[in-house]
Amino acid sequence: MICPCPGTARLRTLRDNEIHIWSATSALPDAAALAVLSADEHARAARFVFDADRWRHLTARCLVRQVLSRYADLPAAAWRFEANAQGRPTVASGLTDPPLHFNLSHAGPAVVCALARFAEVGIDVEQHVPTEFREIGARYFATDERAWLAAAPDDGAASLRFLTLWTLKEAYVKARGAGLSIPLERFSVLPDDGDGATLRADAVIDGAPARWFFVRRMWLPGMPLALAARLPDGGVPAVSWLQYDATAPTAP
Ligand SMILES: CC(C)(COP(=O)(O)OP(=O)(O)OC[C@H]1O[C@@H](n2cnc3c(N)ncnc32)[C@H](O)[C@@H]1OP(=O)(O)O)[C@@H](O)C(=O)NCCC(=O)NCCS
Repeated sequence: MICPCPGTARLRTLRDNEIHIWSATSALPDAAALAVLSADEHARAARFVFDADRWRHLTARCLVRQVLSRYADLPAAAWRFEANAQGRPTVASGLTDPPLHFNLSHAGPAVVCALARFAEVGIDVEQHVPTEFREIGARYFATDERAWLAAAPDDGAASLRFLTLWTLKEAYVKARGAGLSIPLERFSVLPDDGDGATLRADAVIDGAPARWFFVRRMWLPGMPLALAARLPDGGVPAVSWLQYDATAPTAP
């Protein structure tokens, strides 16, 4: 059951240097979770032909609303959203103070959402490797990314490298909120030896590439996830990984 008045005592803390990443497995949300969605969100869900796509959409919408309500004293049904010219959804201006920013990604059974107090945070999870991935890489990857892809020892490793690069690049453009208006071959995000990555870009694409922070993880084997974030004052943010269950949405 969803508490209609979350109450500030139960609210989670999200500090300026923190990023919380919420993750869910797509499922048909329970009736209480579905009740918080807007008419538009239900109408969009109804247009999906396949159950799996509809469930993923519903899980994502419930997750965003109910997770946001864990951080601000607003019921899940009360959130309103707006989008920039490239379609990036944000919390409607004036609803939260301090601001609460999120970015969402979904693929296969995965729904993931990054939350931060600063705007430039982007997340991407991918599952599908297109058969023409080498051609796509040749067209959209930068020189050093193409070299890393070509150096994979076999096809399996190459397809995983492709998805890894794709998620990193997409997390970056999503953090910028700019979509394809950033030419993909004009910047590279190469994985480091740990769970991060390094952005290389000229000054036209990005005036401060060194200030970007990336973190990588496998959501499931073969399903890489990448997060990109630019903290306003640089530094390394603290990242927390949290689970959301749309079929039991009030669980901690
Ligand atoms: C918006 C875009 C980033 C979505 O990517 P995707 O992998 O198809 O889908 P994801 O599940 O990762 O993300 C979708 C979510 O991103 C959010 N989103 C939409 N437009 C966005 C934008 N311009 N910036 C940031 N986030 C955006 C939305 O919440 C959307 O979910 P919703 O429609 O359910 O609300 C994509 O359409 C796009 O513009 N891609 C350009 C980048 C690209 O092609 N990169 C290739 C790297 S090689």
